[in-house]
Amino acid sequence: MTVAADARTAELVAFFTEIYGVAPEQAVRAPGRVNLIGEHTDYNDGFCLPMAIERDVRIALRPREDRTVRVASVQEAGRVSFELSTAIAKDASVPWADYVKGCAQVLLEEGVELVGCDLALTGDVPLGSGLSSSAALEVATIHALLTAASVALEDERIAQLAQRAENAYVGTNCGILDQLSSACGMEGRAMLMDCRTLVLEPVPVPDGVSVVIADTGKRRGLVDSAYNERRAQCEAGAAALGVSHLRDVTLHGLRAAADAGKIDADTLRRCQHVVAENGRTEAAAACLRAGDAKAFGCLMDASHDDLRAKFEVTCAELDTMVGIARGLDGCLGSRMTGAGFGGCTVSLVRDEAVEGFVAALEKAYAAQFDLPVAVYVTRAADGAGRLDI
Ligand code: GLA
Repeated sequence: MTVAADARTAELVAFFTEIYGVAPEQAVRAPGRVNLIGEHTDYNDGFCLPMAIERDVRIALRPREDRTVRVASVQEAGRVSFELSTAIAKDASVPWADYVKGCAQVLLEEGVELVGCDLALTGDVPLGSGLSSSAALEVATIHALLTAASVALEDERIAQLAQRAENAYVGTNCGILDQLSSACGMEGRAMLMDCRTLVLEPVPVPDGVSVVIADTGKRRGLVDSAYNERRAQCEAGAAALGVSHLRDVTLHGLRAAADAGKIDADTLRRCQHVVAENGRTEAAAACLRAGDAKAFGCLMDASHDDLRAKFEVTCAELDTMVGIARGLDGCLGSRMTGAGFGGCTVSLVRDEAVEGFVAALEKAYAAQFDLPVAVYVTRAADGAGRLDI
């Protein structure tokens, strides 16, 4: 779907025109995402239940006659220019541009015939807060480069290539959740995502409830090393049980492996979260299909509690934000969202209580932490695509 022009797009077009001296020809966008449940399951071939959010990365573009790509950002300092090749150099002084370069390189490695282009981007997905600002930038970049070259690829393929850019070029070992959510989001729908088959089942967000995201203001410092460590523990657990992914393991099988001394206590707890979370996520999708927001909220709570006690990826800020939210009127469930170690929580709140909920949450959290708190109420947005200019 093409999204209509608005003030942010107008600002982007003006920015493009000012720096390149000519107006852009086209524009694309890709949203961030919030994961409602199904955390640290994607790289275990499991289930997630995300939705795309109303915040996005937008890129205005104009094809060039040569093989140069120039990029500038409304928010970030530094202009970047590189030649299209399969060995594009990184530049540590302009880290945001690595996402753009990585996408170009991966497309070229795939044999896509790209053309040079001028790009200008703008984004309002908060950075490093677990709402997939990186995936939004990657997916938007791939759409921009393909649009400039008049090439079309399937959304699932775009998500896989964006993930590869992040894994192989940027160097973060993420799963497919973020990129697939951004590429394939569906307006008004959450998506039950099967990370083994990449099949997405749209499930309605029930009437009468809102999705409320609360940013703790804590940025995820150690996320890469801790994320990779959790991933390695999951892989070790699966290997000890003789399967390639924890998707194929039961809680009973895990317990038996621990009793037989095949996995240690830490690995057991990590794997127990993943296996239980897969079950919770399928159950949560069933709740949405049945319109049972209350039962959905209970599963969100259980998810957070396992992420805290068994997977150990929460922190004082996330636990506090969740604890406050659960005590407020109209809150049906609350949990951390994304990789953890900081970033955002997501809560399901009855519509009539949202205003009071937001104000009380901000106030109570600010009384405990000297961090900038931000709360967003969001609907499920459409996935990446064209933008009117
Ligand atoms: C990050 C990663 C995703 C996923 C989540 C945890 O957002 O990028 O691939 O693993 O953490 O569910």
